[in-house]
Amino acid sequence: MQRTKIVDVINSQPTNEAVTVMGWVKTFRSNRFIAINDGSCMDNLQAVVDFEKWDAVLLKKIAPGAAIAVTGSLAASQGQGQAVELIVDQLEIFGESDPSSYPLQPKKHSLEFLRQIAHLRFRTNTFSAVFRIRHYMAFAIHQFFHERGFYYIHTPVITASDAEGAGEMFQVTTLNLNSIPRTEEGNIDFKKDFFGRAANLTVSGQLEAELAAMAFSQVYTFGPTFRAENSNTPRHLAEFWMIEPEVAFADATDNMNLAESMLKYVIQYVMEHCKSELEFLNQREQDEDKQKPAQERNEMGLLDRLRFVLSNDFERLTYTEAIEILKQSNPNKKGKFQYPIEQWGADLQSEHERYLVEKHFKKPVILSNYPKEIKAFYMRQNDDGKTVAAMDILFPGIGEIVGGSQREERLERLQKRMEELHIPQEEMYWYLDTRRFGACPHAGFGLGFERLILFITGMTNIRDVIPFPRFPGNAEF
Ligand code: 4AD
Ligand code: MG
Repeated sequence: MQRTKIVDVINSQPTNEAVTVMGWVKTFRSNRFIAINDGSCMDNLQAVVDFEKWDAVLLKKIAPGAAIAVTGSLAASQGQGQAVELIVDQLEIFGESDPSSYPLQPKKHSLEFLRQIAHLRFRTNTFSAVFRIRHYMAFAIHQFFHERGFYYIHTPVITASDAEGAGEMFQVTTLNLNSIPRTEEGNIDFKKDFFGRAANLTVSGQLEAELAAMAFSQVYTFGPTFRAENSNTPRHLAEFWMIEPEVAFADATDNMNLAESMLKYVIQYVMEHCKSELEFLNQREQDEDKQKPAQERNEMGLLDRLRFVLSNDFERLTYTEAIEILKQSNPNKKGKFQYPIEQWGADLQSEHERYLVEKHFKKPVILSNYPKEIKAFYMRQNDDGKTVAAMDILFPGIGEIVGGSQREERLERLQKRMEELHIPQEEMYWYLDTRRFGACPHAGFGLGFERLILFITGMTNIRDVIPFPRFPGNAEF
């Protein structure tokens, strides 16, 4: 089918040559003006029909949601906000849309309502902006790593290792759950399962990425990850996408530098390539803010927040320094934290992270050198015997957006830590082999893709930045 995209005609000059545009009707006003959108840009094209020339039955079919093709010439627009409009010569209806049952009316719908019709919400301005930005962000991430000589490694979605987050994994099985085979001891006999052993959906591609980094030096993964934690929050999904670079011959500082430049690169890229989407979302947030009490409004607009992150270094401090700040903080002294900070060693909750970034530093923060007790077994042990070379990056409005570390490359230390944490070493022989054959200092991190989308779009619920969110009690669509 021959069609011209709206993005290619919207700012062109008037022409007598016939142009065909295909898309979905947004609105049809006065039996004359059709606003058509084809998803190629934020803007609708205005098509003008002369209702005296057309059959009334046909005109009735031009209803919101209908898929149509219009052919005609481009004339200078009389209306505001567009250079040209299409004067319709030919009109074809591909698919009608019954206005009495089409859920998207030309009015503002709540995000909660739109979540229930996620199969149609792509057609709204907000989700059209969010998901185009999501695309550009994914593209920018690949470009960032490619430009720096990283290789994209596809790590498995199904895995038999559960080293990272035991207890939070989704099991994968083809066993008949109504008659589960048992061993003589009465346990589930996974030997009879598809893989001959218990298998899960991955929580992270890191361990496999480390294997590849021991050959390619610089690799990254970018894939779906799954966590069965029962977290019903606006920051957690059961299925989310994670970007995990892994770099050989790199230490904790290199790791921070890489993460900070990647985050800035992606933000910069979106600011350059998604101007109208960001302007739309910026305006949307401003309008929303007007409905809110003053203390709940954003101190800075969306575009200003993005510019601010680009033009400032992230604040870097250690966990120990952060604990001191938190201990002395007003909310801690006044008992305002749900989890008061009493001593070194406390795990940081999102309320603490947000205090640090939003109230204290008022900018992104990189926290490093956490107590080893609250971090994973593979993180490199510092000389103090208490901390590991971990880093978390905290963003305003979001909290943790990146988690990573320099890895423990010293075999004995790694084994000792695994022993302490009762992680079976026989099963993980392949991971330990990288420490046996050509171990080297290396580091990496994981960026939660949807959390970065939240920051860049200004959306506030993670369920609104992934097309079909998975969370406890919901796997619709
Ligand atoms: O901090 P996490 O658990 O780190 C890892 O999985 C490491 N293996 C990463 C690495 O070093 N290669 O997760 C990394 C990031 C978090 O900072 C957060 O942004 C995001 O993944 N994340 C989630 N995003 C949405 N929903 C969830 N349930 C998430 N859990 C983590
Ligand atoms: Mg983490």
